[in-house]
Amino acid sequence: MKTMVNIALPKGRLGEKTYAMLKAAGFECPAIEESNRKLVFENPEKGVRYFWVKPSDVAIYVERGAADVGIVGKDILLEYKPDVYELLDLGLGKCRMAVAAPKGFKETTGTTLKVATKFPNIAQSYYDSKSRDIDIIKLNGSIEIAPLLGLSHVIVDIVETGGTLRANNLEVCEEIVPISARMIANKAGYKFKYQEINSIRQGLERQREVQQ
Ligand code: PRP
Repeated sequence: MKTMVNIALPKGRLGEKTYAMLKAAGFECPAIEESNRKLVFENPEKGVRYFWVKPSDVAIYVERGAADVGIVGKDILLEYKPDVYELLDLGLGKCRMAVAAPKGFKETTGTTLKVATKFPNIAQSYYDSKSRDIDIIKLNGSIEIAPLLGLSHVIVDIVETGGTLRANNLEVCEEIVPISARMIANKAGYKFKYQEINSIRQGLERQREVQQ
């Protein structure tokens, strides 16, 4: 019997692109391609079992060993610092974490800067590194609306095309860090399934080279 590697895929476009890379690398699972509401799919011949999970939960499954590996945005790794190995940059889901504000916004020093974000830890450590006092307002989505309503001066958020900022009259004022999707592994799982996990990692790495 082949050792099964449990793989947490993020539901949505990034997960679908990642599955396409896994399939091209020889880790296909025909059942996953049939549209239904199932969340777990396996191909025992290839030794893979896939789960669709909420993107922000992937690292939790991997850290606790419910999944051996997973695909997760670097933003989640920086924000939650899960105790996992980061094995590969997939070169997918490229975007950046940035500070944005209404066009023409001028920061006044001496006042506490109000920052709305879904990523309080990333925002806090960025402003700590600049020794800037801030007041974090943690939101769960539609961050761009906060400065428009006077809830915050700026936002710290993910910018991909910049379309959401433009549509709301905001602009990037500082870049914090580039973001992309990473393959992560559970620390114990990586030891026990070293060969299997590495052959998946190598397959994805080859696909990344082909696609770039
Ligand atoms: C993300 C992010 C921005 C937007 C950036 O939001 O928080 O709002 O995408 O993409 P763009 O630069 O291409 O416009 P998401 O779609 O995850 O929704 P949310 O606001 O509910 O978090």
